[in-house]
Amino acid sequence: MAQILPKHMYIILTIFAFSLFIEGESTEFATSLPPKSLHLKHEKLTHLHFYWHEIITGANQTKVTVAQAPPSNTTKIFFGAISVLDDALRVGHGENSTIVGRAQGMYAASDDTTYSILMALTFKFTEGIYNGSTLSILGRNQISLPVREVPIVGGTGVFRFARGYTNIKTYKFISEVIAIMEMNLYVYHYGDSEKY
Ligand SMILES: *[C@@H]1O[C@H](CO)[C@@H](O)[C@H](O)[C@H]1NC(C)=O
Ligand SMILES: *[C@@H]1O[C@H](CO)[C@@H](O)[C@H](O)[C@H]1NC(C)=O
Ligand SMILES: *[C@@H]1O[C@H](CO)[C@@H](O)[C@H](O)[C@H]1NC(C)=O
Ligand SMILES: *[C@@H]1O[C@H](CO)[C@@H](O)[C@H](O)[C@H]1NC(C)=O
Repeated sequence: MAQILPKHMYIILTIFAFSLFIEGESTEFATSLPPKSLHLKHEKLTHLHFYWHEIITGANQTKVTVAQAPPSNTTKIFFGAISVLDDALRVGHGENSTIVGRAQGMYAASDDTTYSILMALTFKFTEGIYNGSTLSILGRNQISLPVREVPIVGGTGVFRFARGYTNIKTYKFISEVIAIMEMNLYVYHYGDSEKY
């Protein structure tokens, strides 16, 4: 076979083609890290206790129903209704008690035999070292039960890598006026131990 190019040119071209192949085909987007590179030292278990204030009607209403289906109106289970909320989280049950955060997100009445809602929301905290940190809540809340357990599925800031559960107890409910829930949260989390 006749050699058209000098031998060393073949070697250079081969290396060039191989490097293109590596760059073009590389699919690496995930690498394993030692936990200390994110300052993750000790997983902590934290208990949070506060009251969730929902104002259902009036000038300072904090929950709005944004969608409903014909059965939502005709049954006491509100099946199909969707609400959006931005409710205050307060240290105590009093209406002027210090605000420690807000519950922001959605409810969907999604059980066609009992009044149960899918809650998809964020607790955004505003006090102390928790200021700016969030917890994500996702799960089923069957309103008729005395204590409802809903999972905590994640978090940010102090609550990085969060997992846990929250117990929800109705403290006060006045139909169409106000709902105050007593909240107990149990959450495992790391946070950034350089800061917290
Ligand atoms: C709504 O909130 C404002 C400001 O906090 C307050 O002055 C007002 O009395 C509240 N209105 C009702 C109906 O609670
Ligand atoms: C449900 O009832 C409300 C208030 O009575 C009304 O405004 C709304 O149109 C009704 N929605 C449906 C889907 O029937
Ligand atoms: C809460 O604050 C409002 C406005 O300052 C006041 O009118 C109301 O009486 C307070 N409520 C309580 C329970 O202290
Ligand atoms: C929480 O953080 C925000 C933004 O950094 C800041 O404006 C606010 O004053 C802080 N609140 C408290 C109670 O520290």
